[in-house]
Amino acid sequence: MNVRELNRRFGSKRVKFSRGKEGFIWIDIQNEFGSARLTLHGAHVTSFIPNGSDDVLWVSEKSMFAPEKAIRGGIPVCWPWFGKHKTIPELPTHGYARLCEWEVASVSSCPEGDGVELHLAPEKVPAKWQPVPVELTFQAAVEKDGVLRLVLSMLNCGEQPVAISSAMHTYFAVDAIENVAVDGLEDVRFVDTLNNTESSESGPIRITRETDRVYLDCENDISLRDGSHYTEILRDGSRSAVVWNPWIDKAKRMPDFGDEEYRRMICIESTNALEDTRILEPDGFHVLATAIIRH
Ligand code: BG6
Repeated sequence: MNVRELNRRFGSKRVKFSRGKEGFIWIDIQNEFGSARLTLHGAHVTSFIPNGSDDVLWVSEKSMFAPEKAIRGGIPVCWPWFGKHKTIPELPTHGYARLCEWEVASVSSCPEGDGVELHLAPEKVPAKWQPVPVELTFQAAVEKDGVLRLVLSMLNCGEQPVAISSAMHTYFAVDAIENVAVDGLEDVRFVDTLNNTESSESGPIRITRETDRVYLDCENDISLRDGSHYTEILRDGSRSAVVWNPWIDKAKRMPDFGDEEYRRMICIESTNALEDTRILEPDGFHVLATAIIRH
């Protein structure tokens, strides 16, 4: 469907479709509670601005916006595998959902908020990425009290069980990384993926070096403070969470990440990672949801 048809079928004063210079179709949700922007490329949310606030999300100035490339920042949907593929290293890191072109299924508006529902059918995924026979639906809504609600629903329509690991890989904008404190993961066991060891820490998480951790067996609400903002991250269908900041050397190695940008972002990801991988039986259903609340 082209932009004109999308606007005719689904558009409203609060939800508008447009085509960007890079060729992506963008969706702008704007209501009395705030605004959000997402693209059909990857069902990728790139902006969330609750009323009276600045953007909760961070996007790199060096991000690519190109077919089959992941956007650096916002909220990549990592699916159906998180990280490297277990057996085929050539397959894209963090799965193919963030690289695919999704379709609009519906738009909803009610006094509580406005949202869109996008759909990715396995037959629309290029065969080279070895799609699993799972129907995927992504809902994004801007709701009252400054909430961005995201719901990723998966239905196994195949004949065999399918293992799914995934993430809403949220890049939060922060004023200065040295002021950041992440609460809610105190004393929670984590795998430090930089050296593959397990441990836990008391007190809030502070970022003072490259950090890449998968917190396990936790359904805790998480919050982020950076001196100027307080943001809550609520999760459903997730018993794991990732905290990531590339710090100086890795930032320099990434072509789509500015050398100094590690100071302005932190990823706190609602996941189904490592031992929180879910097995979808035939006709089995799983929902991974997150709500991001700026206070
Ligand atoms: C995080 C991983 O979730 O994503 C990191 O824990 C990884 O190891 C980061 O570097 C970014 O991944 P990508 O594929 O978007 O560069």
